[in-house]
Amino acid sequence: MNIMKEKEITIHIREYLLNELDREALRLVEEARKATEDAYAPYSAFRVGAALLLENGEIITGNNQENAAYPSGLCAERVAVFYAGARYPDVPIVALALTARRPDGFTEEPAYPCGACRQVLLEAENRGGKPVRIIMAGRSKADVVTSVKELLPKNFDSRFLK
Ligand code: THU
Repeated sequence: MNIMKEKEITIHIREYLLNELDREALRLVEEARKATEDAYAPYSAFRVGAALLLENGEIITGNNQENAAYPSGLCAERVAVFYAGARYPDVPIVALALTARRPDGFTEEPAYPCGACRQVLLEAENRGGKPVRIIMAGRSKADVVTSVKELLPKNFDSRFLK
């Protein structure tokens, strides 16, 4: 079998100390942290908070909502994105902060969105026509990407359906 071409993909992740983030990012991290407090996570005890900044300045938060029938629950990111879509259908999302805690505190390592949430975020980014900056915040440091595409290169989107 002859390989026609080999493709390598580079993604850009910038790591910051939390206190070196810009004001917008810090504010979103604070809101995401607050949102973890209201997560409903009796089965995993892993409480996730997401905070979205909309282009109109509005901040929407979400947290994970678990269920005794496990797959019926939903991640924090999708709760926030779908609420934003329901409430402000025409307003692009410009940034999102994500954070997670176990009973002993916020995770040291930044938590990244699961695969299904990346796909939903991609749709929201394409729908809004603006790159969504994503700030994944751990206890003292954060990883930042400037677009969902950094987290989901070679993705499937609506172009394939046309
Ligand atoms: N979870 C999120 O809310 N977001 C993610 O991106 C990963 C996982 C939630 C789902 C479940 O309630 C708990 O974390 C443990 O997987």
